[in-house]
Amino acid sequence: MIFRVFGNWKMHKNPQEARDFVRRLRADIRPEEENSFCLFPPALTAFAVNEALLSSKISWGGQNCYFENAGAFTGENSPQVLKEMGAGYCLVGHSERRQVFFEPEDVMAKKVKALQDLGLSPVLCVGETLDNRKWGRTAEVILRQLKSGLALADFSKEILVAYEPVWAIGTGEVAHPEQVAEVHDQIRKVLEELAGAARASEIPLLYGGSVKASNASGLAVLKEVNGFLVGGASLNPEEFLNIYRQSASL
Ligand code: PGA
Repeated sequence: MIFRVFGNWKMHKNPQEARDFVRRLRADIRPEEENSFCLFPPALTAFAVNEALLSSKISWGGQNCYFENAGAFTGENSPQVLKEMGAGYCLVGHSERRQVFFEPEDVMAKKVKALQDLGLSPVLCVGETLDNRKWGRTAEVILRQLKSGLALADFSKEILVAYEPVWAIGTGEVAHPEQVAEVHDQIRKVLEELAGAARASEIPLLYGGSVKASNASGLAVLKEVNGFLVGGASLNPEEFLNIYRQSASL
């Protein structure tokens, strides 16, 4: 499995900054490395990113979408239009969606299904809060989020899972490799139950939460870590590429 480095820009970068980023990234990576990369620009910047990525194998995806393709849903993003605009992926259930925007758990499965129906690849994000971890509830929370998020998933189609402990996102506090290994092993086992061992082994598991070039290799060596979902450190093309360079050769 190739090592994936996915960059979640959150609500950063205007179209010109996005174009500059893509130009610098494309200048520095070899064509055969391109399919390891995916960018998640804010929706308003996606058009510029798609244009800048023309004739490249670098992908891009939505940070969020609704589960209907059209209708009276003010402020939402259509998965159908994401696809028409050139996206390959979409995040589902990022912790900021769950926590800041109070997205209910039962919409995740519908979003996963809507994306897969269109041939887009969902990246289902799961992760415990600091309180969950303190109270020893990490495994229970991860299991619940996986089961509800994947309830309508079609495992014959592409799907990815990102483990992002909420307490490690944007805090500079990266999870310890032992903690990551433990949760990724658990996720793989749940996927084996849901999709069968052979299929589960092909599903990329990403880690996210304060990944930087300086801590990437300690996590990338873990057997069940198949890539990273990078927030803050994905805003700078050199740092983002460095994360890949520290990880992909391991
Ligand atoms: P961070 O964000 O790398 O800035 O911690 C990760 C994410 O939210 O995907």
